[in-house]
Amino acid sequence: MADQTENPSKYLGNELKYIKMVLDSENWSATTGNWNQTLEGAFAKKFGAKYAVSMNSGTSTLHAALESLGVGPGDEVISPALTVIMDTTATIHANAVPVYADINADTFTIDPKDVERKITDKTKAIIPVSLYGLPPDYDPIIKIAKKYDLAVIEDNAQCFLSTYKGRMTGTIGHMASYSFENTKHLSCGEGGILITNDEQYAETARKIGGHGFKNLKASEGRVRLNQDIFQNPNYKRHDTLGWNYRLSEFNAAIAMAQLERIEDLVQLRIDSAQIFMDTMKQCDYLIPQKTPKGYTNSYYTLGVVYNGLESIGVTWEEFRKAYINAGGDGIYGAWAVPYLEPVIAERKFVDRCPWVYQDVHYHSGLCPVAEHVQPRVMQFKTNYRDLNLARKKVEILSQVIEKLAKK
Ligand SMILES: Cc1ncc(COP(=O)(O)O)c(C=O)c1O
Repeated sequence: MADQTENPSKYLGNELKYIKMVLDSENWSATTGNWNQTLEGAFAKKFGAKYAVSMNSGTSTLHAALESLGVGPGDEVISPALTVIMDTTATIHANAVPVYADINADTFTIDPKDVERKITDKTKAIIPVSLYGLPPDYDPIIKIAKKYDLAVIEDNAQCFLSTYKGRMTGTIGHMASYSFENTKHLSCGEGGILITNDEQYAETARKIGGHGFKNLKASEGRVRLNQDIFQNPNYKRHDTLGWNYRLSEFNAAIAMAQLERIEDLVQLRIDSAQIFMDTMKQCDYLIPQKTPKGYTNSYYTLGVVYNGLESIGVTWEEFRKAYINAGGDGIYGAWAVPYLEPVIAERKFVDRCPWVYQDVHYHSGLCPVAEHVQPRVMQFKTNYRDLNLARKKVEILSQVIEKLAKK
Protein backbone atom coordinates (compact mmCIF):
# COMPACT_ATOMS: atom_id res chain seq x y z
CA MET A 1 0.00 0.00 0.00
CA ALA A 2 1.32 3.40 -0.93
CA ASP A 3 2.11 5.66 2.02
CA GLN A 4 -0.47 8.44 2.08
CA THR A 5 0.92 10.25 5.14
CA GLU A 6 2.29 12.94 2.82
CA ASN A 7 -0.89 13.04 0.74
CA PRO A 8 -3.96 12.47 2.84
CA SER A 9 -6.32 12.99 -0.09
CA LYS A 10 -8.70 10.43 -1.49
CA TYR A 11 -6.87 10.18 -4.79
CA LEU A 12 -3.36 8.99 -5.32
CA GLY A 13 -3.43 7.22 -8.63
CA ASN A 14 -4.46 8.27 -12.09
CA GLU A 15 -7.61 10.23 -11.24
CA LEU A 16 -6.30 13.66 -12.29
CA LYS A 17 -4.65 12.33 -15.44
CA TYR A 18 -7.83 10.56 -16.53
CA ILE A 19 -10.06 13.55 -15.76
CA LYS A 20 -7.81 15.71 -17.93
CA MET A 21 -8.17 13.16 -20.72
CA VAL A 22 -11.95 13.41 -20.48
CA LEU A 23 -11.77 17.21 -20.47
CA ASP A 24 -9.55 17.19 -23.53
CA SER A 25 -11.91 14.90 -25.40
CA GLU A 26 -15.19 15.91 -26.99
CA ASN A 27 -16.96 13.08 -25.19
CA TRP A 28 -18.19 13.83 -21.69
CA SER A 29 -21.16 11.45 -21.83
CA ALA A 30 -21.39 7.67 -21.88
CA THR A 31 -23.39 7.98 -25.09
CA THR A 32 -20.19 8.63 -27.03
CA GLY A 33 -17.19 8.36 -24.69
CA ASN A 34 -14.98 5.39 -23.94
CA TRP A 35 -14.44 5.69 -20.17
CA ASN A 36 -17.63 3.93 -19.13
CA GLN A 37 -16.79 1.20 -21.60
CA THR A 38 -13.28 0.87 -20.17
CA LEU A 39 -14.52 0.87 -16.58
CA GLU A 40 -17.17 -1.74 -17.33
CA GLY A 41 -14.69 -4.06 -19.03
CA ALA A 42 -12.15 -3.79 -16.23
CA PHE A 43 -14.76 -4.12 -13.46
CA ALA A 44 -16.36 -7.19 -15.04
CA LYS A 45 -12.94 -8.82 -15.39
CA LYS A 46 -11.89 -8.06 -11.82
CA PHE A 47 -15.15 -9.32 -10.33
CA GLY A 48 -15.41 -12.38 -12.55
CA ALA A 49 -18.59 -11.46 -14.43
CA LYS A 50 -19.33 -11.43 -18.15
CA TYR A 51 -21.11 -8.08 -18.17
CA ALA A 52 -20.95 -4.81 -16.25
CA VAL A 53 -23.26 -1.82 -16.65
CA SER A 54 -22.18 1.44 -15.00
CA MET A 55 -24.84 3.81 -13.66
CA ASN A 56 -25.07 7.03 -11.68
CA SER A 57 -25.73 5.41 -8.27
CA GLY A 58 -26.06 2.16 -6.40
CA THR A 59 -29.78 2.86 -6.13
CA SER A 60 -30.25 3.26 -9.89
CA THR A 61 -28.51 -0.11 -10.27
CA LEU A 62 -30.88 -1.78 -7.78
CA HIS A 63 -33.93 -0.33 -9.52
CA ALA A 64 -32.72 -1.26 -13.00
CA ALA A 65 -31.79 -4.75 -11.76
CA LEU A 66 -35.24 -5.34 -10.28
CA GLU A 67 -36.99 -4.25 -13.45
CA SER A 68 -34.66 -6.16 -15.75
CA LEU A 69 -35.41 -9.31 -13.73
CA GLY A 70 -39.09 -8.73 -14.40
CA VAL A 71 -40.12 -7.46 -10.96
CA GLY A 72 -43.21 -5.31 -11.30
CA PRO A 73 -46.49 -4.12 -9.77
CA GLY A 74 -47.66 -6.20 -6.82
CA ASP A 75 -44.64 -8.51 -6.72
CA GLU A 76 -42.92 -8.93 -3.38
CA VAL A 77 -39.20 -8.41 -2.84
CA ILE A 78 -37.50 -9.64 0.31
CA SER A 79 -34.63 -7.62 1.77
CA PRO A 80 -33.05 -7.56 5.23
CA ALA A 81 -34.37 -5.42 8.07
CA LEU A 82 -30.92 -4.01 8.81
CA THR A 83 -29.81 -2.03 5.78
CA VAL A 84 -30.14 1.35 4.13
CA ILE A 85 -33.51 2.57 2.85
CA MET A 86 -32.49 2.14 -0.81
CA ASP A 87 -33.30 -1.57 -1.03
CA THR A 88 -36.81 -0.58 0.01
CA THR A 89 -37.16 2.49 -2.20
CA ALA A 90 -35.80 0.74 -5.30
CA THR A 91 -38.41 -1.96 -4.69
CA ILE A 92 -41.19 0.62 -4.42
CA HIS A 93 -39.93 2.42 -7.53
CA ALA A 94 -40.53 -0.88 -9.34
CA ASN A 95 -44.08 -0.78 -7.89
CA ALA A 96 -43.29 -3.90 -5.90
CA VAL A 97 -43.86 -4.50 -2.20
CA PRO A 98 -40.92 -4.57 0.23
CA VAL A 99 -40.98 -7.54 2.59
CA TYR A 100 -38.46 -7.70 5.42
CA ALA A 101 -36.52 -10.72 6.63
CA ASP A 102 -34.88 -10.59 10.04
CA ILE A 103 -31.13 -10.77 10.57
CA ASN A 104 -28.66 -12.99 12.34
CA ALA A 105 -27.70 -11.28 15.62
CA ASP A 106 -23.98 -12.08 15.26
CA THR A 107 -23.34 -11.35 11.58
CA PHE A 108 -26.08 -8.68 11.18
CA THR A 109 -26.87 -10.13 7.73
CA ILE A 110 -30.14 -11.57 6.43
CA ASP A 111 -31.37 -14.77 8.11
CA PRO A 112 -32.12 -17.35 5.38
CA LYS A 113 -34.66 -19.12 7.61
CA ASP A 114 -36.67 -15.94 7.93
CA VAL A 115 -36.39 -15.40 4.18
CA GLU A 116 -38.13 -18.72 3.63
CA ARG A 117 -40.80 -17.88 6.21
CA LYS A 118 -41.58 -14.62 4.36
CA ILE A 119 -42.10 -16.19 0.94
CA THR A 120 -45.59 -16.00 -0.54
CA ASP A 121 -46.91 -16.73 -4.02
CA LYS A 122 -46.18 -13.08 -4.86
CA THR A 123 -42.49 -13.22 -3.98
CA LYS A 124 -40.32 -12.53 -7.01
CA ALA A 125 -36.87 -11.56 -5.75
CA ILE A 126 -34.50 -11.46 -2.80
CA ILE A 127 -31.97 -8.71 -2.19
CA PRO A 128 -29.38 -10.06 0.25
CA VAL A 129 -27.11 -7.24 1.46
CA SER A 130 -23.42 -7.69 2.26
CA LEU A 131 -23.66 -5.46 5.28
CA TYR A 132 -20.49 -3.56 6.19
CA GLY A 133 -18.59 -5.78 3.74
CA LEU A 134 -19.66 -9.19 5.06
CA PRO A 135 -21.46 -11.52 2.65
CA PRO A 136 -24.66 -13.13 3.92
CA ASP A 137 -24.99 -16.91 4.07
CA TYR A 138 -25.57 -17.43 0.36
CA ASP A 139 -25.83 -21.23 0.09
CA PRO A 140 -29.25 -21.51 1.75
CA ILE A 141 -30.42 -18.31 0.06
CA ILE A 142 -29.59 -19.66 -3.39
CA LYS A 143 -31.22 -22.98 -2.48
CA ILE A 144 -34.41 -21.18 -1.45
CA ALA A 145 -34.30 -19.02 -4.60
CA LYS A 146 -34.06 -22.14 -6.78
CA LYS A 147 -36.84 -23.90 -4.88
CA TYR A 148 -39.28 -20.99 -5.30
CA ASP A 149 -37.93 -19.72 -8.64
CA LEU A 150 -36.83 -16.34 -7.32
CA ALA A 151 -34.27 -13.86 -8.60
CA VAL A 152 -31.36 -12.88 -6.34
CA ILE A 153 -29.76 -9.45 -6.50
CA GLU A 154 -26.65 -9.13 -4.38
CA ASP A 155 -26.49 -5.65 -2.87
CA ASN A 156 -22.73 -5.23 -2.67
CA ALA A 157 -22.70 -1.45 -2.31
CA GLN A 158 -20.58 -1.90 0.82
CA CYS A 159 -18.74 -4.99 -0.32
CA PHE A 160 -15.82 -5.06 -2.72
CA LEU A 161 -13.76 -8.23 -3.20
CA SER A 162 -15.20 -10.11 -0.21
CA THR A 163 -15.43 -13.86 -0.61
CA TYR A 164 -17.97 -16.45 0.49
CA LYS A 165 -16.70 -20.02 0.84
CA GLY A 166 -13.95 -19.36 -1.66
CA ARG A 167 -16.20 -17.59 -4.17
CA MET A 168 -15.93 -13.92 -5.01
CA THR A 169 -19.15 -12.09 -4.16
CA GLY A 170 -20.86 -10.58 -7.18
CA THR A 171 -21.56 -13.65 -9.26
CA ILE A 172 -23.39 -15.76 -6.69
CA GLY A 173 -26.80 -14.23 -7.42
CA HIS A 174 -28.35 -13.37 -10.80
CA MET A 175 -27.06 -9.82 -10.64
CA ALA A 176 -24.95 -7.77 -8.22
CA SER A 177 -25.12 -4.07 -7.50
CA TYR A 178 -22.27 -1.82 -6.33
CA SER A 179 -22.15 1.81 -5.25
CA PHE A 180 -19.38 4.34 -5.93
CA GLU A 181 -20.85 6.92 -3.53
CA ASN A 182 -18.41 9.06 -1.56
CA THR A 183 -17.81 6.70 1.39
CA LYS A 184 -17.47 3.46 -0.55
CA HIS A 185 -14.26 1.43 -1.05
CA LEU A 186 -14.20 2.59 -4.66
CA SER A 187 -15.62 6.05 -5.13
CA CYS A 188 -16.14 8.69 -7.78
CA GLY A 189 -18.46 10.89 -5.70
CA GLU A 190 -21.65 9.29 -6.97
CA GLY A 191 -21.98 6.22 -9.16
CA GLY A 192 -22.67 2.53 -9.28
CA ILE A 193 -22.31 -0.58 -11.38
CA LEU A 194 -24.29 -3.75 -12.02
CA ILE A 195 -22.64 -7.03 -12.90
CA THR A 196 -24.15 -10.24 -14.22
CA ASN A 197 -23.33 -13.26 -16.37
CA ASP A 198 -26.66 -13.00 -18.18
CA GLU A 199 -26.62 -11.09 -21.45
CA GLN A 200 -30.35 -10.40 -21.48
CA TYR A 201 -30.40 -8.97 -17.92
CA ALA A 202 -27.42 -6.75 -18.75
CA GLU A 203 -28.97 -5.47 -21.97
CA THR A 204 -32.35 -4.79 -20.35
CA ALA A 205 -30.78 -3.06 -17.34
CA ARG A 206 -28.71 -0.88 -19.65
CA LYS A 207 -31.80 0.10 -21.62
CA ILE A 208 -33.73 0.86 -18.44
CA GLY A 209 -30.87 3.10 -17.32
CA GLY A 210 -30.29 4.59 -20.78
CA HIS A 211 -33.62 6.04 -21.97
CA GLY A 212 -34.53 2.73 -23.55
CA PHE A 213 -32.40 3.30 -26.65
CA LYS A 214 -32.93 0.21 -28.76
CA ASN A 215 -29.32 -0.02 -29.95
CA LEU A 216 -27.92 -0.41 -26.43
CA LYS A 217 -26.40 -3.81 -25.86
CA ALA A 218 -25.18 -5.81 -22.87
CA SER A 219 -21.60 -4.71 -23.61
CA GLU A 220 -22.24 -1.47 -25.48
CA GLY A 221 -23.41 1.74 -23.84
CA ARG A 222 -22.49 4.14 -26.63
CA VAL A 223 -25.66 4.94 -28.56
CA ARG A 224 -24.37 7.53 -30.98
CA LEU A 225 -21.73 5.50 -32.74
CA ASN A 226 -23.19 5.68 -36.23
CA GLN A 227 -24.10 9.31 -37.00
CA ASP A 228 -25.70 8.45 -40.35
CA ILE A 229 -28.26 6.26 -38.63
CA PHE A 230 -28.71 8.47 -35.58
CA GLN A 231 -29.23 11.70 -37.53
CA ASN A 232 -31.76 10.19 -39.91
CA PRO A 233 -35.29 11.57 -39.25
CA ASN A 234 -36.80 8.19 -39.96
CA TYR A 235 -34.76 6.46 -37.30
CA LYS A 236 -36.84 5.17 -34.35
CA ARG A 237 -34.70 5.10 -31.24
CA HIS A 238 -36.58 3.73 -28.25
CA ASP A 239 -38.01 0.28 -27.59
CA THR A 240 -37.98 0.22 -23.77
CA LEU A 241 -39.28 2.53 -21.04
CA GLY A 242 -36.18 3.94 -19.44
CA TRP A 243 -34.71 6.57 -17.18
CA ASN A 244 -31.42 8.39 -17.42
CA TYR A 245 -29.18 6.51 -15.01
CA ARG A 246 -26.02 7.04 -17.02
CA LEU A 247 -22.69 7.72 -15.35
CA SER A 248 -20.79 10.72 -16.72
CA GLU A 249 -17.43 10.10 -18.34
CA PHE A 250 -15.73 12.13 -15.57
CA ASN A 251 -17.10 9.85 -12.89
CA ALA A 252 -16.23 6.77 -14.93
CA ALA A 253 -12.65 8.01 -15.34
CA ILE A 254 -12.26 8.55 -11.58
CA ALA A 255 -13.84 5.18 -10.83
CA MET A 256 -11.40 3.56 -13.28
CA ALA A 257 -8.42 5.11 -11.49
CA GLN A 258 -9.79 3.88 -8.17
CA LEU A 259 -10.42 0.41 -9.59
CA GLU A 260 -6.72 0.22 -10.46
CA ARG A 261 -5.93 0.26 -6.74
CA ILE A 262 -8.98 -1.52 -5.39
CA GLU A 263 -6.93 -4.25 -3.69
CA ASP A 264 -4.97 -1.65 -1.70
CA LEU A 265 -8.10 0.31 -0.87
CA VAL A 266 -9.85 -2.79 0.45
CA GLN A 267 -6.79 -4.11 2.29
CA LEU A 268 -6.35 -0.84 4.15
CA ARG A 269 -9.91 -1.07 5.48
CA ILE A 270 -9.37 -4.70 6.49
CA ASP A 271 -6.11 -3.85 8.29
CA SER A 272 -7.69 -0.86 10.02
CA ALA A 273 -10.64 -2.96 11.19
CA GLN A 274 -8.27 -5.65 12.46
CA ILE A 275 -6.30 -3.34 14.74
CA PHE A 276 -9.53 -1.88 16.13
CA MET A 277 -10.83 -5.38 16.80
CA ASP A 278 -7.59 -6.37 18.53
CA THR A 279 -8.00 -3.46 20.92
CA MET A 280 -11.66 -4.19 21.53
CA LYS A 281 -10.62 -7.51 23.07
CA GLN A 282 -9.60 -5.40 26.11
CA CYS A 283 -13.27 -5.16 27.07
CA ASP A 284 -16.36 -7.35 26.98
CA TYR A 285 -18.83 -4.76 25.71
CA LEU A 286 -17.66 -4.01 22.16
CA ILE A 287 -18.61 -7.08 20.13
CA PRO A 288 -17.53 -6.87 16.45
CA GLN A 289 -19.67 -8.23 13.64
CA LYS A 290 -18.84 -11.92 13.42
CA THR A 291 -17.14 -13.07 10.22
CA PRO A 292 -17.93 -16.80 9.94
CA LYS A 293 -15.24 -19.28 8.92
CA GLY A 294 -14.91 -19.41 5.14
CA TYR A 295 -16.05 -15.79 4.63
CA THR A 296 -13.97 -12.65 4.17
CA ASN A 297 -15.17 -9.20 5.17
CA SER A 298 -13.99 -6.11 3.27
CA TYR A 299 -14.93 -3.88 6.22
CA TYR A 300 -16.63 -0.93 4.59
CA THR A 301 -16.93 -0.01 8.23
CA LEU A 302 -16.35 -1.96 11.45
CA GLY A 303 -19.78 -2.79 12.84
CA VAL A 304 -19.85 -3.48 16.56
CA VAL A 305 -22.61 -4.23 19.07
CA TYR A 306 -22.19 -1.96 22.08
CA ASN A 307 -23.19 -3.53 25.41
CA GLY A 308 -21.55 -0.88 27.60
CA LEU A 309 -24.71 0.14 29.41
CA GLU A 310 -25.15 -3.36 30.82
CA SER A 311 -21.40 -3.92 31.36
CA ILE A 312 -20.02 -0.62 32.73
CA GLY A 313 -23.09 1.63 33.05
CA VAL A 314 -22.07 3.91 30.14
CA THR A 315 -24.67 4.75 27.50
CA TRP A 316 -24.07 4.51 23.73
CA GLU A 317 -24.04 8.31 23.48
CA GLU A 318 -21.68 8.72 26.47
CA PHE A 319 -19.20 6.24 25.02
CA ARG A 320 -19.26 7.98 21.64
CA LYS A 321 -18.68 11.38 23.31
CA ALA A 322 -15.85 10.00 25.47
CA TYR A 323 -14.08 8.65 22.36
CA ILE A 324 -14.55 11.87 20.38
CA ASN A 325 -13.48 14.08 23.31
CA ALA A 326 -10.30 12.02 23.64
CA GLY A 327 -9.51 12.67 19.94
CA GLY A 328 -11.23 9.67 18.36
CA ASP A 329 -13.39 9.81 15.25
CA GLY A 330 -17.15 10.08 15.17
CA ILE A 331 -18.96 6.78 15.58
CA TYR A 332 -22.03 6.30 13.41
CA GLY A 333 -25.12 4.50 14.60
CA ALA A 334 -26.91 2.10 12.27
CA TRP A 335 -29.82 3.41 10.20
CA ALA A 336 -33.27 2.81 11.67
CA VAL A 337 -34.82 -0.36 10.30
CA PRO A 338 -36.31 0.74 6.95
CA TYR A 339 -39.95 0.00 7.78
CA LEU A 340 -39.77 2.34 10.81
CA GLU A 341 -38.52 5.28 8.72
CA PRO A 342 -41.38 7.79 8.38
CA VAL A 343 -41.63 7.38 4.60
CA ILE A 344 -42.43 3.70 5.02
CA ALA A 345 -44.10 3.58 8.46
CA GLU A 346 -46.44 6.45 7.48
CA ARG A 347 -47.12 4.86 4.08
CA LYS A 348 -46.07 7.86 2.04
CA PHE A 349 -45.73 5.60 -1.01
CA VAL A 350 -49.35 4.40 -1.26
CA ASP A 351 -50.62 7.01 -3.72
CA ARG A 352 -48.12 6.05 -6.41
CA CYS A 353 -49.95 2.76 -6.95
CA PRO A 354 -52.97 2.45 -4.60
CA TRP A 355 -54.17 -0.91 -5.91
CA VAL A 356 -50.81 -2.42 -4.99
CA TYR A 357 -50.25 -0.68 -1.67
CA GLN A 358 -53.71 -0.17 -0.15
CA ASP A 359 -53.32 -3.10 2.25
CA VAL A 360 -49.57 -2.80 2.84
CA HIS A 361 -48.74 -1.78 6.43
CA TYR A 362 -45.61 -2.07 8.53
CA HIS A 363 -45.21 -1.92 12.29
CA SER A 364 -42.52 -2.35 14.93
CA GLY A 365 -41.96 -5.93 16.01
CA LEU A 366 -41.84 -7.24 12.42
CA CYS A 367 -38.16 -8.20 12.70
CA PRO A 368 -37.33 -8.37 16.42
CA VAL A 369 -33.65 -9.29 16.08
CA ALA A 370 -32.90 -6.35 13.80
CA GLU A 371 -34.87 -4.01 16.05
CA HIS A 372 -32.86 -5.23 19.05
CA VAL A 373 -29.46 -5.00 17.35
CA GLN A 374 -29.95 -1.71 15.45
CA PRO A 375 -29.84 0.74 18.40
CA ARG A 376 -26.76 -1.01 19.82
CA VAL A 377 -24.66 -0.90 16.64
CA MET A 378 -21.61 1.34 16.50
CA GLN A 379 -19.92 1.82 13.14
CA PHE A 380 -16.21 2.53 13.56
CA LYS A 381 -14.36 4.23 10.75
CA THR A 382 -12.07 2.03 8.65
CA ASN A 383 -11.67 4.51 5.82
CA TYR A 384 -8.16 5.69 6.78
CA ARG A 385 -5.65 6.88 4.19
CA ASP A 386 -2.80 5.28 6.09
CA LEU A 387 -2.60 2.59 8.75
CA ASN A 388 -0.60 4.91 11.01
CA LEU A 389 -3.59 7.24 11.17
CA ALA A 390 -5.76 4.29 12.20
CA ARG A 391 -3.18 3.27 14.84
CA LYS A 392 -3.41 6.69 16.47
CA LYS A 393 -7.17 6.34 16.80
CA VAL A 394 -6.85 2.79 18.08
CA GLU A 395 -4.51 4.03 20.81
CA ILE A 396 -7.12 6.62 21.80
CA LEU A 397 -9.82 3.94 21.89
CA SER A 398 -7.63 1.79 24.11
CA GLN A 399 -7.16 4.67 26.56
CA VAL A 400 -10.89 5.38 26.63
CA ILE A 401 -11.66 1.72 27.39
CA GLU A 402 -9.07 1.74 30.21
CA LYS A 403 -10.38 4.99 31.67
CA LEU A 404 -13.98 3.84 31.64
CA ALA A 405 -13.02 0.57 33.37
CA LYS A 406 -11.70 2.61 36.30
CA LYS A 407 -14.82 4.73 36.66
C1 LIG B 1 -26.12 -1.33 1.27
C2 LIG B 1 -26.36 -0.18 0.33
N1 LIG B 1 -27.20 -0.34 -0.69
C3 LIG B 1 -27.44 0.64 -1.57
C4 LIG B 1 -26.82 1.85 -1.45
C5 LIG B 1 -27.19 2.92 -2.43
O1 LIG B 1 -26.09 3.41 -3.12
P1 LIG B 1 -26.08 4.93 -3.66
O2 LIG B 1 -25.87 5.82 -2.48
O3 LIG B 1 -24.91 4.93 -4.60
O4 LIG B 1 -27.37 5.16 -4.34
C6 LIG B 1 -25.91 2.07 -0.42
C7 LIG B 1 -25.15 3.33 -0.29
O5 LIG B 1 -25.45 4.32 0.19
C8 LIG B 1 -25.67 1.04 0.52
O6 LIG B 1 -24.85 1.20 1.54
